[in-house]
Amino acid sequence: MKKQRVIGIFDSGVGGLTVMKEILEQLLDVRIVYFGDTARVPYGNRSREELIRFGEEIVTFLIGQGAEVIVVACNTSSAMALPVLRERFDIPMIGMVEPGARLAVEKTIAGRIALIATETTVRSKAYSSGVSRALAKGVLPNFSVIREAWQQGEQAIALVKAQGCPLFVPLIEAGLANSAEARGIAKTYLAPIQAAGVDTLILGCTHYPFLEPVIREILGEDVLIVDPALAVVKELEILLQEMDERERSGPIGLAFGAVLGTNHWRTRYFVSGDPGLFRQVGNTLLQEPIDLVEQVILGE
Ligand code: DGL
Repeated sequence: MKKQRVIGIFDSGVGGLTVMKEILEQLLDVRIVYFGDTARVPYGNRSREELIRFGEEIVTFLIGQGAEVIVVACNTSSAMALPVLRERFDIPMIGMVEPGARLAVEKTIAGRIALIATETTVRSKAYSSGVSRALAKGVLPNFSVIREAWQQGEQAIALVKAQGCPLFVPLIEAGLANSAEARGIAKTYLAPIQAAGVDTLILGCTHYPFLEPVIREILGEDVLIVDPALAVVKELEILLQEMDERERSGPIGLAFGAVLGTNHWRTRYFVSGDPGLFRQVGNTLLQEPIDLVEQVILGE
């Protein structure tokens, strides 16, 4: 029997559900323990120290729930806390920024990439470093004209505009993703992106895919919208294969390690705030039922 891995996912709130959804759709052999830090949302203007402390508490909790891999389904935590969390915990972790930046480089057609994200993610410059790192590692656009220009030494691919969107997360957490307010605010936030003449837009906050229809309506079909979650799933798939292979070649029995209990749960949800609100907003956003949500108080 193939081992069903338990993946621990966390975010400040419902945003990580966009990542969870992709994982569940594409990787049929995994189970997910989800933690939404809804008592402390938004993360978008938290300090590095806070984000590290919250991350430590949550990763400890998820490991206690049987997680074998952590997906930091929050760009803000990925940008600010992930390097420290990787040093402090002996568990594989995948963040949003590196896979997201790589995907944008692969997808761009004109080499002009934009980012929308929380203020903290924008200030961290993690995505511009991610784009430069991807290029330095040899990741190139799939589109031949821009790829050849880059290969001939032109600085043809860059993150040219980064826009903080602080009101998006509170709106989405309040269940207002599909509202006139969200549309009005999105128009304001996206105006500088439109003015910058970009061809690719990274959704650099895991909440934002819930606004993709609104963003698409405003930007039209000429801008390619990149959701880093798609690249995160690929990275996770490769990591799980490597873990399986390592265990198969390790001491006998490890590859058939314990499957948690005999109950056949696929997802478990924990939040630090109001479980009812998370269930209600999550149900609407995912358009499928989230049954049980348990409240856990961390850091006290
Ligand atoms: N969804 C998160 C992110 O990807 C956090 C947003 C927030 O809480 O401000 O950045």
